[in-house]
Amino acid sequence: MYEHKPRLEGKVAIITGAGSSGPGVGNGKAAALLFAREGAKVLLVDSVVERAEETLEAIKAEGGDASVFEANVINDTDCQHMVAAAIDRYGRLDILDNNVGISRRGTVVDISESDWDYVMAVNVKSIVLCSKYAIPRMVETGGGSIINISSIAGLRAHSSTPYTTSKAAVIGLTMTMAADHGPDGVRVNCIAPGLVYSPMVAPRMDDDLRQVRKNAAPLRTEGDSWDIGYAALYLASDEARWVNGITIPVDAGLTAVSPVTYQTLSQQQRY
Ligand SMILES: NC(=O)c1ccc[n+]([C@@H]2O[C@H](COP(=O)([O-])OP(=O)(O)OC[C@H]3O[C@@H](n4cnc5c(N)ncnc54)[C@H](O)[C@@H]3O)[C@@H](O)[C@H]2O)c1
Repeated sequence: MYEHKPRLEGKVAIITGAGSSGPGVGNGKAAALLFAREGAKVLLVDSVVERAEETLEAIKAEGGDASVFEANVINDTDCQHMVAAAIDRYGRLDILDNNVGISRRGTVVDISESDWDYVMAVNVKSIVLCSKYAIPRMVETGGGSIINISSIAGLRAHSSTPYTTSKAAVIGLTMTMAADHGPDGVRVNCIAPGLVYSPMVAPRMDDDLRQVRKNAAPLRTEGDSWDIGYAALYLASDEARWVNGITIPVDAGLTAVSPVTYQTLSQQQRY
């Protein structure tokens, strides 16, 4: 008889930004819950410890194994201690989900230097610092999987200039990390979430805007953080053992279509 083996059994994962910035389930929290459900031991990292604790409670309620680590991932020492904590508590490290990300509004004309530097630090430098300490520990046990969270803003001009720039950098970083560390068995892949409805964006949404966003992509349905979490689960698992250096848009097909023809021409006019 077929027996379901948990997809991440025996693996240890770090998720950065494992709390959610508002009520509900964000991308990091969804990934944390899914990883724990599939048997991983999960280090829940967040600079706001109460947020990670909420995720921990949810995992514990389902019988999963996780613990909280407070860190600001733009800080080198915090990243070093974060990886050390995973090894101390769980003995190994197999998965790093570089999920932390923030946005600031602005064009090149009106963005302040400090906002620019902050977005680049949180969205890009954090991945470098976390990976710098994680990769050698993964290599010790034969390899691992790193998942970098970008955005469709990294594929199309779509959001503010610092956000779009930083998220495009995450895609480039993914490719070069995949090339550098693939030979040591560390796979590095990227997810580009689309217009998902999550605690991060909820404060800026009303029903009309949610409807517009829903209708923007061919599937015409609203995505949420679970859609992003399931993609992360696949990339984290051995099912993706031959997948390296890619960016998966999880966006209901939004970036697959030409907005001009898709939004303005009927299907018949498109032929
Ligand atoms: N609609 C969307 O939600 C959407 C769309 C595209 C891409 N993304 C990307 O998804 C990722 C985050 O998704 P989420 O739903 O988990 O966001 P979230 O805002 O709900 O949660 C992120 C968590 O990261 C923590 N955090 C922020 N800065 C930190 C730092 N310097 N160190 C440690 N922790 C820090 C916050 O406290 C928060 O709990 C980001 O990279 C974001 O750019 C989201």
